Parts: sequence; structure tokens; C-alpha cells
Amino acid sequence: MKIAKIAPGIRMANVKLHGKTFLVSLAILLKGCGFNHPKMPFPDSAQSSPVSFSYLTQNIFIPKCSDCHGTNMGNYSYLMNRNYIVPGSAESSLLYQLVSTGEMPKNGQALRSDEISAIYEWIQAGAKE
Ligand code: HEC
Repeated sequence: MKIAKIAPGIRMANVKLHGKTFLVSLAILLKGCGFNHPKMPFPDSAQSSPVSFSYLTQNIFIPKCSDCHGTNMGNYSYLMNRNYIVPGSAESSLLYQLVSTGEMPKNGQALRSDEISAIYEWIQAGAKE
């Protein structure tokens, strides 16, 4: 989440949810919830929504892998048929091993840690299509 100070006293937050970016005024949210409210529902609840395969495809596999792999890395059956992914075990998944060690992408532009974590979470949660 990016927080930008757009004017004195006003901060806007870029919140990514299901691949779409929402611009939210923190001032409104914080006032609306009461700053010390123990169950302030934002932004943690937005970030804890499960990572979907289409999120990974749109944000990681197509932009960062397709130069060399075409659309293959965003093709669920392709990944599963080659056992690149072992649902429930990121450590055993070749794709995860390659991105977490920086071997892929092969051009030396390693994925960011939040991108690697998103792949990890998706695999651990069962790697659903
Ligand atoms: C600059 C080109 C390039 C990019 C970008 C790239 N790869 Fe690769 N990838 C390769 C090549 C070449 C191979 C063939 C094996 C080798 O040379 O290591 C490969 C092989 C693989 C394999 C199979 C390894 C095996 O042993 O069967 C996986 C999985 C993989 N890449 C995942 C990814 C993912 C995920 C991304 C994006 C995050 C990515 N690659 C980006 C070039 C690339």
C-alpha cells in the first residue's frame, strides 16, 4: 500500500484489492472508525484476502516472465502438468525455488520480496486456479 501526502493534513492511500487499485482517503477512514478502535477493519483486512492465480498472472507472471516464456507461466495447466507447483508446499515447488533464489527471471531482475511472498502464499493455500 502506498500512502501519499497530497495536501497538508490529507493523506491518500493506494490500496490494491483483487488487482484493482483504489484511492482511499485515510482521513475519512481514520475519523470514520475512530483512531483507537480495536477492530479498525482497514487496511489489514484488505491485505489478508487470499492471493488468486489471476492476480499472480496479471501482476507477476505476464509482466515479468512472458519475455522468455510467453504466456506459459500464466497458464495454470501448463504449470501443474509440469509439476512446477506442488500445492501446499512452496518449498517443494520448482517455480517457487527458482524465483526465491533469484534464478528466475533469468535476466537478473529478481522479483521483489512482496511478489515472492504472494507466490508463496498462493502455493501454501493450495494453489487454486
Ligand atoms: C530472460 C529470460 C527469462 C525470463 C524473464 C524468465 N525465465 Fe524462466 N527460464 C528461462 C530459460 C532460458 C529457462 C530454461 C532453463 C534454464 O536455462 O535455466 C527457464 C526455465 C524456467 C523454468 C523451468 C525450469 C526447469 O528446470 O524445467 C521455470 C519454472 C521458470 N523458468 C520460471 C520462470 C518464472 C516464474 C519467471 C518469471 C518470474 C521466469 N521464469 C522468467 C528464461 C527466462
